[in-house]
Amino acid sequence: MSLLEVHNVTQRFGELAAVNQVSLNVEEGELHAIIGPNGAGKTTFFNMISGFYRPTSGRILFAGQDVTDVPPHSRVHLGMARTFQITEVFPELSVRDNLRIAVEVTEGLRMTLHNTRAQVAKTQELVDELMETGGLTENAERNVGELSHGDQRSTEIMMALALKPKLLLLDEPAAGMGNKETFDTAVLIRRLHRTQKLTIVLVEHDMRVIFNLADRITVLTEGQVLEVGTPDEIANSEKVQVAYLGEKREGA
Ligand SMILES: Nc1ncnc2c1ncn2[C@@H]1O[C@H](COP(=O)(O)OP(=O)(O)O)[C@@H](O)[C@H]1O
Ligand SMILES: [Mg+2]
Repeated sequence: MSLLEVHNVTQRFGELAAVNQVSLNVEEGELHAIIGPNGAGKTTFFNMISGFYRPTSGRILFAGQDVTDVPPHSRVHLGMARTFQITEVFPELSVRDNLRIAVEVTEGLRMTLHNTRAQVAKTQELVDELMETGGLTENAERNVGELSHGDQRSTEIMMALALKPKLLLLDEPAAGMGNKETFDTAVLIRRLHRTQKLTIVLVEHDMRVIFNLADRITVLTEGQVLEVGTPDEIANSEKVQVAYLGEKREGA
């Protein structure tokens, strides 16, 4: 059994099939990247996996359970955590406070008025660990809104990680970033995958991010699967080269 099994999902917006009969299997511990030109249906597909869109048809299984009709917040409880293409953090709060909130929500501490000393200590320890992993320790007390784009993204990824997910879903984590930040984000994702053995589904437009990270890649074009394979197989695929060259010409 794969951790995530997507069977023939379709998403229609009126006449347009933004995603058309797409299937995907993600194994435990795998980093699976979904790439494709703009408008290929990546975000739509991602929104179906995380539950923001109900597929027009098809099924989604997570850890053996049919989650097709399970709403996003319940999928989070089952162990799916996602980040957004646009960073979702509390910009006016410090890195530490953002992560503390995420940890408290996960540990069910937000509901109680008086947390015990032991709970406070445990929360602090988890927050420190997350900051360490995310390379955020030196920025702990700064407001997230003042940080570089890359550090904001790291904060958001670590907030998702505070949920202790079995599956981390990342939509274009390097969107809008320069070279160095793109590289730093890739290093963080690699660390989560290699060290924490997280299963990750990563949607990305920037091919440079993918090729050193992914175990397998699914290429979408016009809402359909063009190719699935290892980075080497994808790099050598004529179909993929044609799809990306076509896009470059349009953009030129
Ligand atoms: N909510 C929506 N309503 C109507 N059309 C949409 C909606 N979301 C996306 N689309 C269309 O679906 C197609 C795929 O979009 P999207 O999934 O955002 O692609 P990608 O993330 O690969 O760039 C595009 O043609 C887009 O215009
Ligand atoms: Mg998108």
